[in-house]
Amino acid sequence: MFIMLRCPKCGEKLTDEGRSFICPNHHCYDKAKSGYVNLLLSNQMKTKLPGDNKLMVQARKSFLDKGYYEILAKTLQNSVKEHAFAGCKILDAGCGEGYYTEKIGEAVSGIASEIVGIDISKCAAEYAARRTKSALFAVASVFRLPIETESCDILTTLFAPYCGEEFQRVLKREVTMIMVIPSERHLWQLKCAVYDEPYQNDVKSFDLSGFELIKRDTICGNIDISCNEDIISLFSMTPYFYKTSEENQQRLVKIESLTTEIGFEMLTYKKL
Ligand SMILES: C[S@@+](CC[C@H](N)C(=O)[O-])C[C@H]1O[C@@H](n2cnc3c(N)ncnc32)[C@H](O)[C@@H]1O
Ligand SMILES: [Zn+2]
Repeated sequence: MFIMLRCPKCGEKLTDEGRSFICPNHHCYDKAKSGYVNLLLSNQMKTKLPGDNKLMVQARKSFLDKGYYEILAKTLQNSVKEHAFAGCKILDAGCGEGYYTEKIGEAVSGIASEIVGIDISKCAAEYAARRTKSALFAVASVFRLPIETESCDILTTLFAPYCGEEFQRVLKREVTMIMVIPSERHLWQLKCAVYDEPYQNDVKSFDLSGFELIKRDTICGNIDISCNEDIISLFSMTPYFYKTSEENQQRLVKIESLTTEIGFEMLTYKKL
């Protein structure tokens, strides 16, 4: 039973009818075989296949499943658990292929009543739905969430686009939003291996209108990547992949092992 979802056409509540979701105005959205539901209307799509493509989704899955970012997953689990309560409803906005959504599901198993993962990439939703049944995955944009107003108790957003207005709308008052962003030196040695003049990530102010920052966890460490396949996967799941010349990308093909810094800012906010 998913009570957070609303119809992207008319905004009425969607009811889970087993194979599809239906609103009182008879708008019907079939579930894919894997279980996700596509709630992205064709007039909301700027491109034919928006969001991360199959190559990026597969690269992210392959890399994350090897546990390289386990340190982040654990901190996220602890934080979500701290804010969760019986019957709470959780939204993972821009969930990708569901690695962290699954981790959230494990952390609040038997506590949360509903977990929904939203991503604009159909491919990501497909992979996520195959990964875990602890959440429902829907294809939609964070800029137009098919989620009921003030229905959500915890919202997580990891390395994904931010839409303050929509996040404010779907969250209840005084509840939690957990945001994860890369810190300045995240993947520094990977960038040094590719670029002649690497630059540090630009970390913007943590102030967000309508939210109060209540906690900042800085997570950092080093990861040893001992095979070329994983190095390529890591690079392919970053935004640098499409911004890097063929010549610079070729530099990675020759590297068999790499130790790189990783760094994340986990920011916990309260909706005001
Ligand atoms: C860097 S990935 C992060 C995925 C996941 N949160 C993780 O950390 O593994 C960013 C994700 O945002 C999705 N995305 C991009 N634009 C979006 C939008 N407007 N609405 C929803 N998702 C979007 C992409 O398809 C991609 O899966
Ligand atoms: Zn409808």
